[in-house]
Formats: sequence, C-alpha cells, structure tokens
Amino acid sequence: MIAEKETVLVTGGVGYIGSHTTVALQEAGYRVLILDNLCNSDVAVLKAIAKITGEEPCFIEGDIRDRGLLDKIFSNYRIKAVMHFAGLKAVGESAEQPLAYYDNNVNGSLQLLQAMQEADVRTIVFSSSATVYGDPQSLPLTENHPRSATNPYGNTKLMVEEILENLYASEAGWRVALLRYFNPIGAHRSGQIGEAPQGTPNNLLPYVAQVATGRRAQVQVFGADYDTPDGTGVRDYIHVLDLAQGHVAALAYCKQSDGELLTVNLGTGKGYSVLEIIAAFEQASGKHIPYQVVARRPGDIAECWADTEQAYRLLGWRASRTLPEMCEDAWRWEQNRSGQASGG
Ligand code: NAD
Ligand code: UFG
Repeated sequence: MIAEKETVLVTGGVGYIGSHTTVALQEAGYRVLILDNLCNSDVAVLKAIAKITGEEPCFIEGDIRDRGLLDKIFSNYRIKAVMHFAGLKAVGESAEQPLAYYDNNVNGSLQLLQAMQEADVRTIVFSSSATVYGDPQSLPLTENHPRSATNPYGNTKLMVEEILENLYASEAGWRVALLRYFNPIGAHRSGQIGEAPQGTPNNLLPYVAQVATGRRAQVQVFGADYDTPDGTGVRDYIHVLDLAQGHVAALAYCKQSDGELLTVNLGTGKGYSVLEIIAAFEQASGKHIPYQVVARRPGDIAECWADTEQAYRLLGWRASRTLPEMCEDAWRWEQNRSGQASGG
C-alpha cells in the first residue's frame, strides 16, 4: 500500500484499455486523473469505474493537442507519471485519413511530451502495438525483431516509439516504457466496463459478440487460405485486465529503475485462429455463431504471437487469464451493454 497516493495522468482513460488500467491503478493505490476528449468513448464509464473501485477518477474533458490545457493540468496537479493511451486506432480509417492520424497520435504525443518536459514530469508509459513488427520474419516475436509499418496507424506508433527513444537518449531523468500490446479482448468481470466500439466493429471479438446477441447476422472470416493450421488468421489474444496489470508493473519498474528504457511485449505467447475464437465464444455464450469465409482483408498478416520472456524477466508479470475467461467476460459485458441499449 502506498502511504501518500501518487497521481497518475491517464490520457484516453475513458476508453477501452485506459478504463481498465484506471481500475488497476486505483486498486494498486494510485490516484488517477483522466484527460480525454471523448471522441471514442462515453463519460458514463467514469461512474462505472466508481461502481467497481468505490472511487470516481478525476476527469478533465479536453484534447492532448491543447498545449495550454496541458500546462494548466501539470501546474494544478502534482502528477508523478503519465500513462498515454489517447489516440486513434482504426487501421482502415488511418489509410483514408492519414493526416488526422498523424495529427492526433504523433502531434498529440509531441504536445504532451513538451508539456511534461516543461513541468519536469519525466515518467511515461506509452501504448504501442505489435503492429510495429510489421509482417513477422520469425515467431514468437521478440522485442528486438525489426520494426516496420504497413499502414499510417502503425507508422504513428513506430514514430512515437522513435520520438520517445530519442528523447530518452537526449536528456537524463526520463523513464520511458514502450508497451507493445498484442490483441486485447475481454472486459472487467463485473460487466460494468468493456469494449464499446461505435458503429460496425473493426476487430474480431466485438464483432463475434454482436453476432452472439443477434445484433449482426454472421461473422465474416477474412480468409481461410493462410498458411496456418486451419487457414484462418492467428493472433495472441490477451485479457484486457492482464494488460492493465502489465501497466501497473511497468510503472513500478520505471519508478525503481535508474532510468532504463523499457520495451516489452504484452501478450500471452499463445496464438488462436479466427475459427478457434468463434468456437470459444460459442462455448462461453451458449449461442450458435454463424460465419462465412470471405476474401482476405488487405494488410492482414497470417499469424503473430509474443515472446513473453522479457516482460516476465523485467516486470515479473505474466498474463494469467485463459481464452474461456476472456470470452465469458466479454459476453457478460456485451449482454449488459445490449440490455442497456435496448432499455434506453
Ligand atoms: P479507445 O478508442 O477505446 O480509447 C482511446 C481514448 O482516447 C478514447 O477514450 C478517446 O476518446 C481518447 N482520445 C483519442 N484522441 C484523443 C485526443 N486527441 N485527446 C484526448 N483524448 C483522446 O482505444 P483503446 O483500445 O483503449 O486503445 C488505447 C491505446 O492503445 C491507443 O493508443 C491504441 O492505439 C493502443 N492500442 C490498442 C490496441 C487494441 O487492440 N485496442 C492494440 C494496440 C495498441
Ligand atoms: N477478422 C475476421 N473478421 C472480422 C475481424 C477480424 O476474420 O470481422 C480476423 C482478422 O483477419 C485477423 C483476426 O481476425 O486474422 C484479428 O483481427 P482484429 O481486427 O481483431 O485484430 P488485428 O490483429 O488485425 O489488429 C489488432 C488491432 C491493431 C493492433 C494489433 C496488434 O486492431 O490496432 O491488433 O496486434 F495493432
């Protein structure tokens, strides 16, 4: 237990991963201050967090690109560290609107880092992605695998990683964690918070969940002719609460280290195919989930999963939740959410 609560600024904390990490931070004894412009989230999440932890996080509605606002936040609150989730994340949209992605994700990160430097707050945990590995040359993916980007979204992640590496090398005192997420799924087991995509989901799990509730007719399986055991794409799905706990471990590491740059994968080390995910969700929900195999989605890779040794060695952290738990928790959340939607 921490004697005096330290404040962590969580950008994008109303969103999917940020909200679960807020819960984990509060449970670890931190005070959380969220900055979010609500462009992809609903402020009702704050009350849902309070139902879980008994404490509503402080919230400022605003944009990470608003330098004046950032300066005010850093001068009004004693912020110890920043967890930086805020960003746009739809791969397809990033190809249609590259400038919006570079502005939000790269310019937004620059504004944030400049404000941090000015305020002498030099600890940052950044939401990166396995997308920075491009098309894997070898599996499992280790942190020293060459980086490349196949779309503007991935390029924004790669650019911000490089900016943070340059900043770290330029000046003493920075504590930087680059966390490369694999495929976060699932929800808090209370069913209070979870993934709530607007419109048609881009990602597999929320789409499957909406087929299970009957909101969508069938899953489209993007290709069954990959060089994988059943021909469909294989990914390393990780429970969002394991991911959230990985952030708490990364922050603890940053606080203890002599200012080392931390780069770690957050994954489970195990891959599941699209058909295995559909079967697991059928099992968890008790619903039949129809699907149809269609053409490959442009830009998709065949398979990827993480090497998890570095995260375990440096952080003592490993993902522990199983695929059935991920699907059960996602299903509980989806049912609550669709009940709320039809009720309101
Ligand atoms: P999300 O959209 O649910 O959450 C992002 C939050 O940031 C939202 O609440 C949004 O309103 C806010 N936001 C966006 N731009 C902002 C801005 N300019 N100023 C203030 N707030 C802003 O997404 P998520 O799934 O929780 O992802 C969080 C982070 O993790 C993102 O940076 C994403 O790129 C990264 N990531 C996500 C995944 C994934 O599969 N979900 C995988 C790898 C990396
Ligand atoms: N898929 C389908 N049908 C769908 C959606 C997806 O068959 O309706 C397949 C994809 O082809 C892929 C797998 O399900 O084989 C997973 O696809 P997702 O869209 O859920 O996830 P991705 O692996 O493509 O990408 C996600 C995030 C990225 C992040 C990456 C990190 O969307 O932002 O994980 O590994 F970079």
